This record gives sequence, C-alpha cells and structure tokens, in this order.
Amino acid sequence: MTAPLIVLVGPMGSGKSTVGALLADRLGVPYRDTDADIVAAEGREIADIFVEDGEEHFRALERAAVRAAVAEHAGVLALGGGAVLDEGTRALLAGLPVAYLSMDVEEAVRRVGLNTARPLLAVNPRRQWRELMEARRHLYTEVARAVVATDERTPEEVAQAVLDAL
Ligand code: S3P
Repeated sequence: MTAPLIVLVGPMGSGKSTVGALLADRLGVPYRDTDADIVAAEGREIADIFVEDGEEHFRALERAAVRAAVAEHAGVLALGGGAVLDEGTRALLAGLPVAYLSMDVEEAVRRVGLNTARPLLAVNPRRQWRELMEARRHLYTEVARAVVATDERTPEEVAQAVLDAL
C-alpha cells in the first residue's frame, strides 16, 4: 500500500504549505495539499464552497480528499487547518507519520490576522483565534505523532524539526 511519508496538520498560517514544500524538496518526493485538490475537483474556491454549501459539506469533500490522498500519495501531504474536526478524517490518519505544526494565538493573529480570504476569521480575529485553538488543539494532538512548535522559527528550522521528530 502506498502511504504518505509525512502528513502535516495545524492551524491556518502555521506554515503547512511552505514547510511541506520544503520537506518534499529535501526528500525528493512530491508535495500535495488537500485544499488544492478540493479546489481543483470542485472548480471553485474554498471560501465559495463555505458560502454556497456550508461547512458540513466542505468537511465531507475534505474527508474524501484526505481518503484519496492517503491511499495514493507517497510524498508529503498537508491538510487544511480544520480537517481534524471531522471524526472520519481523523480515523483516516491512524498510524500515519503526522506532524502537528503548532502556533500560539498571538503569533496566529500576527501571521493571519484579519485575512478575510480565510472564511472563519472574518470578525474579531483574536477572539476567534482563541476559540478556534481551544476547540482544535486536542484534536491536532490526538492525530499527531509529533508536535512541532513554529513560533519564532523559520520554515527551514520547522522542516528540520519535523524530520528530527518523526
Ligand atoms: C480551514 C483552513 C483552510 C481551509 C478552509 C478551512 C479551517 O486551510 O481548509 O478555509 O477550518 O481552519 P489552511 O489551513 O490550509 O489555510
């Protein structure tokens, strides 16, 4: 069975795409991102899927994208920040080398702030970030084999820490 070499989870802005691409480069394997898979399959942006069909529908699309990627992709795989909210998606990650890129709330506000292209953060980013982290932290930890802090680290340092930890 083919399986990802490394799976990255963590909140928006934690650097999953940047670090994932660096890791793929270093290991000489392909990089894949389930957000991009969903956009390509649906032919519309994620924000539009949220607005037009709701979060529940998006999570079902995401579960299918994770299932396909986990079965097919022998490289580095990054998941969307909310993928761990879905129990079925979490189950798909069992036994895989998953790294959780963690980030504290103040760093999240600094990095992502009021970026309204991210549909969940349109109002009061600090409060929303705090709630989002409180709701998700234990889920990231549950699926992860390693937790790698990203605060005050460059993407290269984070990539190295992932390799050391897994
Ligand atoms: C989401 C994170 C996004 C994307 C969607 C929902 C979330 O992915 O899947 O906007 O619920 O945190 P990134 O973490 O890649 O930005």
